[in-house]
Amino acid sequence: MQSRRFARLGAENGMVLALGVSVVSRMGILSRFLPRPASLVGLDIGSSSVKAVEVTRSATGGLVARAGVQPMPSESLAKGAIVNGPVVTDAIRNVLEAAGIRGRDVALCLPGSAVVAREISMPRMSPAELAGSIAWEAEGHIPFELRDVNLDYQVVGRGADSEGPTIVVLLAAAKKSTIADYAAVVAQAGCVPIVVDVAAFALQNAYATYGGLDGGGSLALLNAGASTINVNIVLGGRSVFTRDIAAGGNAYTDALRAAHSLTFGEAEKLKKGGGRGQDADTPEPAVREVTERLLLEVEKTFDFFAAKPASARLDRIVLSGGASRGREFAAAIEERFDASVERFDPFRAMTMDVVSAAGGELADVAAAAGVAAGLALRQVGDR
Ligand SMILES: Nc1ncnc2c1ncn2[C@@H]1O[C@H](COP(=O)(O)OP(=O)(O)OP(=O)(O)O)[C@@H](O)[C@H]1O
Ligand SMILES: [Mg+2]
Repeated sequence: MQSRRFARLGAENGMVLALGVSVVSRMGILSRFLPRPASLVGLDIGSSSVKAVEVTRSATGGLVARAGVQPMPSESLAKGAIVNGPVVTDAIRNVLEAAGIRGRDVALCLPGSAVVAREISMPRMSPAELAGSIAWEAEGHIPFELRDVNLDYQVVGRGADSEGPTIVVLLAAAKKSTIADYAAVVAQAGCVPIVVDVAAFALQNAYATYGGLDGGGSLALLNAGASTINVNIVLGGRSVFTRDIAAGGNAYTDALRAAHSLTFGEAEKLKKGGGRGQDADTPEPAVREVTERLLLEVEKTFDFFAAKPASARLDRIVLSGGASRGREFAAAIEERFDASVERFDPFRAMTMDVVSAAGGELADVAAAAGVAAGLALRQVGDR
C-alpha cells in the first residue's frame, strides 16, 4: 500500500501540499463538505515552457486528458523564482486556451529549492505534545527561518529505538514568499490554486497512477528540463531520495551558441532539429562536453543513493522532460547506466485518452507533460 502523505502548507489559502506517492485532494474535516471540482488542472510552470494537463473522468469512468505546452518567454523565471509575473500569467492563459482547458482549479508545483520535506524520528508522544514541540524540532531540520515558511507535519510511521517507542514524522516546509508568488500568477490567470506539490513527487504520482510502481524494484525518475533535472529515486514504491540538479537542456543551447556564434533561438533550433551537434553518432565536442557534465551530475546523484544503507542497484531509469527529447542526452543515459531506460509517456497509459494536445507533436507534449499530468492526477485519481 502506498502511504498517504499530505500537508497543509498553504493553509491560509486552503491549499494542500501533496508529498510522496499519495493521491491527495482537499482532505481534512472541513473540506469534506466542499464540492469537489469536476476536474483538476496540473500546471507545470517551467523556465522554458508552461505545461498544462486537465484530467477529467469520462462517463464510462476512464480518464480523459487535455494537454498543452506553450513557450515561456526567456527570463520570466530565474532559479525557480518568478521574475516577470505578468508574462508568466500570460503564458498560463495561453496554454489553457490553446489546449481548450476550461477547468480553473489548479494544482501547481513549487521549485524544489522552496520546499523541504524530511522524515524525522521522534519519541512517541500525544498529538498535543507533538503539536507543541514540532516547531522547535523543525528548527534543526529545516534550512529556512521558521517564520518564513509554512510548516506542516504528519505522523507516517511508528518504530522504536534504544530509548523507547518512536514515531516517524513527515515534516514539510515551503517558503511563504514562493507560495504567494506562484499563487499570484495563477490567480491573475483566473485560476484557483488548490494543491501545491514538487515536480519530483508529481512525476512519481503520474508514474504510480499507471501502475509503474506495482512491480516494486528500484527506479530513478528523471525529469530533464531547461535549467533543472529533477531526480527521484523510488525503492519498493517509496521515494527514498530526491535531488534537483541545477542544469538541463539550456546547457546544450548555450554550448552551441558559443561554439557557432548563434543567438539563443538559433541554437535551440539547431539543437532540436538534430543535424550538427545532436547526431548521436558524431556529436561535436561542445555537445559531448555538456553531455559529460550532465551525466556526471546524474551519476553523482545515483552514487549518493547507492552509498546509503539498504540501497539496491537501479533496475530502471524513467526519462521525461523536454531535454529527454535530445538524442545525445537520452543515448548517453542508456549507454552509461546498467539499467533499463524507458521514456515516460503520461498519455499512452491504459486509462488515459488524450483528447487534445496543443503546442507540438504529441510525443513532445507527452515528454514535457509528465509533471503536469502527475499534478492533475492528484485529485481525480483519488475518487
Ligand atoms: N526535441 C528536442 N531535442 C532536444 N532538446 C529539446 C527538444 N525539445 C525540447 N528540448 C529542450 O527541453 C528543454 C525544455 O524542457 P521543459 O519544458 O521540460 O523545461 P522547463 O520545465 O521549462 O524547464 P525547467 O523545469 O528546468 O525550468 C529545453 O532546454 C529545450 O531546448
Ligand atoms: Mg520543468
